[in-house]
Amino acid sequence: MTASANKGFSSSFGVIMAAAGSAVGLGNIWRFPYICGKYGGGAFLLVYLFFVFLIGMSLLMCEFTVGRRTRRAPVKAYPALAGGKKGWMAIGLLGIVTCFLILSIYLVISGWTLNYFWESVTGTLFGQSGVGFDVHFGDFAAHSVHRVIFMLIFLLLGLVVILCGVESGIERLSKWLMPILLVLIVALCVRSLTLPGAAAGLDYLFHPDFSKLGGEGILAALGQSLFSLSVGMGTMVVYGSYIPADDNILKSSIWITVCDVAIAVLAGVAIFPAVFACGMEPGQGAGLVYVVLPAVFQSFEFGAQLFAILFFLLLSLAALTSAISLHETLTAFLTDAGMKRTPAAVLVAIAEGVLASAVAISFTGETALTAADRTFFDWMDYLTAYVLPPVCALLTVLFVGWIMKKDDINDELSNHGKLSTPWFDAFYHVMVRFVAPVALATVLVLGMMGYIK
Ligand code: PHE
Repeated sequence: MTASANKGFSSSFGVIMAAAGSAVGLGNIWRFPYICGKYGGGAFLLVYLFFVFLIGMSLLMCEFTVGRRTRRAPVKAYPALAGGKKGWMAIGLLGIVTCFLILSIYLVISGWTLNYFWESVTGTLFGQSGVGFDVHFGDFAAHSVHRVIFMLIFLLLGLVVILCGVESGIERLSKWLMPILLVLIVALCVRSLTLPGAAAGLDYLFHPDFSKLGGEGILAALGQSLFSLSVGMGTMVVYGSYIPADDNILKSSIWITVCDVAIAVLAGVAIFPAVFACGMEPGQGAGLVYVVLPAVFQSFEFGAQLFAILFFLLLSLAALTSAISLHETLTAFLTDAGMKRTPAAVLVAIAEGVLASAVAISFTGETALTAADRTFFDWMDYLTAYVLPPVCALLTVLFVGWIMKKDDINDELSNHGKLSTPWFDAFYHVMVRFVAPVALATVLVLGMMGYIK
């Protein structure tokens, strides 16, 4: 019996909430709205929906299948399904490296978010008359000790949840947080949509402008669909290993994907109408949430502080369950290799604390590290969003489509024949074997050629 075989999620609802907790994060609320706006609104949304339901969800089902079939973390799961051939460990190892790098960036951005939440609560976010929010963000981003402290607090919060266990920690927290998140985001949408002039924001978000999409937008849509569903790095293999034997993987995957997409779209609806209603500039890229939104909140006639608190709470909570899933993936890798859970989780926290501190202080100011005109932070972001997950995703679908036994996959997806799976042949022969690998390979090659000019 493996380390993860005797513990896991308790019910289908628990599976959906925990996996949706991983999926819904900074990617949905911070990144999706600004890249959607940048690449033509509705045009980007259509391509994103296409990728997320076809490629992203297929990958989610593949990763769940690999995890539940073997009840192992990725490094051991792939060789176990390939007749013990050790070389297949490479897919799992690549995923582990990706998770390790992503978590460091994720922690840094989550640290900013927690800091903004705290400043909203204490009122200091709005207290600096005359200082623009871009200056405030710049000051904060350049102030290393500040950045590191908030990031470490966030890391510790995640560690505590992991130490409480898979069911009593991760599943229980997600079951509470996901509904709260939905309420918070709907409240923000209502506020945003009732501002005069909100319609222009909806137009910006949904009106399909194909001239802005281009090849780059298509690449961004694929990268986003993988990142947002937390696939392509083994996280969903680990969560798959915790799925109860009688859970319907197809049903859970559909629910998780729907939750993920819904929260991303709602985030756009909460943000853009308010931005337009206040006459702000929407195309601010990554600064949208930290620079534009505080100014938007400040211009509200009533409830500026309340809405700032709600928004940054929403973002912090969403980021927390995602960071936990990355931390859990790394912990499961160590426990599957024979370590006890507590030392494993603490070791991951220490290693991430060190790496994330380095990331935090290395991208602006005097401590900035740059290579080929990009900061260390930019390189990490590029690698972890556009290169490593698609590579790992490609290897995963190739493995499931061409190496793993077809009957094993059908057996797992049909719960050993208890569920009927009339869709299986189309899913396996079309999506997993051909469409997903070809799409991933194409986008990956074109994306790398475009980035490294
Ligand atoms: N899906 C998360 C988000 O959208 C990020 C994430 C990626 C979490 C990979 C776990 C694994 O923010």
